Amino acid sequence: MRRIALINQKGGVGKTTITTNLGHALALVGHRVTVIDLDPQGQLASSYGIFRAPSKGIDQVMLKSQDPASVKQGIRDMLTLIPAGNRLQEIEYLHDGGASRARLLKQALDGVLDDQAFVLFDCPPSSGLLVANAIFAADEALIPVSGDHMSLNGLAKMLITIKKFEPYLDKPLRKWIALNRYFPRRRLSMEVSEKLRKHFPDQLVNTPIREAAVIAECPGIGRTIFEYKPGSQSAKEFQTLATELLEGDPG
Ligand SMILES: Nc1ncnc2c1ncn2[C@@H]1O[C@H](COP(=O)(O)OP(=O)(O)OP(=O)(O)O)[C@@H](O)[C@H]1O
Ligand SMILES: [Mg+2]
Repeated sequence: MRRIALINQKGGVGKTTITTNLGHALALVGHRVTVIDLDPQGQLASSYGIFRAPSKGIDQVMLKSQDPASVKQGIRDMLTLIPAGNRLQEIEYLHDGGASRARLLKQALDGVLDDQAFVLFDCPPSSGLLVANAIFAADEALIPVSGDHMSLNGLAKMLITIKKFEPYLDKPLRKWIALNRYFPRRRLSMEVSEKLRKHFPDQLVNTPIREAAVIAECPGIGRTIFEYKPGSQSAKEFQTLATELLEGDPG
């Protein structure tokens, strides 16, 4: 099983969009996938068309040691969702438990979901305890970056945050950087892409995901790009991302 955390403390870079569409892309080629909403905003459920968010989810698993099986729901063929739940925000404010507060998720998932090929964590735009939990529970981090200089800043900060955790992890996180909201003909986008290629040749995913109206339209109707516009360039980009991740299995 591969556990991948979608992280970046910068908001709006595409964590939820990529979780939604990458999750479906992997399921469509026959892998069992569970997507977990670790963001108290709870937008992952609605991205898949569940507009009345369930009140219980990963919050109960982390706060009340509830069995993940009791809060998961099948949402597409091969694809399962564990929603955020109403109380997820409380985790950011846990006082008791010391360092173990950051390992609630890892412990809760230990030995469960073993029949899944992928577990994706959609993280909030922060670097608090929820993200720390994702980092401890994950084997890999996929960091979406949008095509502007500010997001290079965000990436640098994110990498520093991950580095702080690394001495305490069982093994280093395999890191992927995905360029999202890319404008092929815009100079700024190309500059960011060049910089990423130069500085992170091993981490940068080859195919950027372009800025596209069809991607932005998906969450409003609760469908993935493969349901809304299966023949589009954007659908191909998410398929390519899935293929690259499959080929780059760190084993
Ligand atoms: N490639 C893209 N083309 C067009 N719109 C996009 C693209 N990627 C994301 N968006 C849109 O940008 C907005 C932010 O994306 P998303 O919610 O995935 O970011 P996020 O990193 O999860 O944000 P947050 O940090 O608030 O959780 C959404 O409205 C989404 O539909
Ligand atoms: Mg999000």
